[in-house]
Order: sequence, then structure tokens, then C-alpha cells
Amino acid sequence: MKDDVSFLIEAAKKAAGNAYAPYSNYHVGAALLLNDGGIVTGANFENASYGMTLCAETIAIAKASSDGQMDKIIAIAVAGGPAGKIAMGDAVTPCGRCRQIIKEVADVTKRDIPVHCVHANGHHTYKLSELLPNAFGPSNLA
Ligand code: THU
Repeated sequence: MKDDVSFLIEAAKKAAGNAYAPYSNYHVGAALLLNDGGIVTGANFENASYGMTLCAETIAIAKASSDGQMDKIIAIAVAGGPAGKIAMGDAVTPCGRCRQIIKEVADVTKRDIPVHCVHANGHHTYKLSELLPNAFGPSNLA
């Protein structure tokens, strides 16, 4: 039987197949593991006004939040690559904006969320605190 991480990575790869990325042709999928075993996925969503693009991670997290499930998120997997060649090169790591979005999840869940970044030969797992050290977050506003 596949373990949770392998299952989550497969879900991220599959989600990348739903990317709407006609401008970059770079397809990204993200999958969130919930503490009840559920999985929420997202894929990047581009726009002719390029800067309006939404990343896969942000979409997945917004989906979970809008379904009232943000506090259940315990891990994230991200996979991507040129269309039809998911994870054939370097690991996809979340962009700066997505790291800040994940920071919100880390604070709400009180977990240093593991982010499994898929690359050609497997995956590398980072903690959010490694990807975004000394982050600004909800506690700064208190
Ligand atoms: N992208 C993501 O969806 N997530 C990342 O972590 C990195 C970049 C998307 C944005 C854009 O649609 C495409 O990848 C190329 O930058």
C-alpha cells in the first residue's frame, strides 16, 4: 500500500493535468493532505493579463479555506513541469507569494507544514520555516 506522501504526490501530479497554462505552458499541481485523510487539489490558472495568474498552491489552499477546511491541512505536495513532462527537471518549490499563503496555514494549524516538492528523481521535503524563515504572520498583528 502506498504511504501518505506517495499518495499525495500522485494527487499533485494528477492535478497538474488540470492546469490552465496556455501562456507559460508550465503545468503545476498542488495537493493538500487533511487530518481526516481527505485531499484537496489545485492547479495553476493563468490569464491573458499575465500578472493575474493564480498558482496551484494558492488555489488549493483557497479551496480548502472556502470549504471550511483550512485548519485540517497537515501537508502539501507540489509537482510541475512543461506540459506533458511533469517533474522531469528540478523540484518545483512554491513561489514567494505562495510561501506567504502557506504561512497563514502554518499559523492557523500551529504546524510547521511539510512541503513535498517533486523533482525528476523523487521529492524533497521542506518545512515551511525553511522556505520562509523569519516570516511575517498573524502574530505580528496581535
Ligand atoms: N506556478 C505555480 O502554480 N506554482 C509554483 O509554485 C510556481 C509557479 C505557476 C505560475 C505560472 O502559471 C507558471 O507556474 C509559470 O510560472
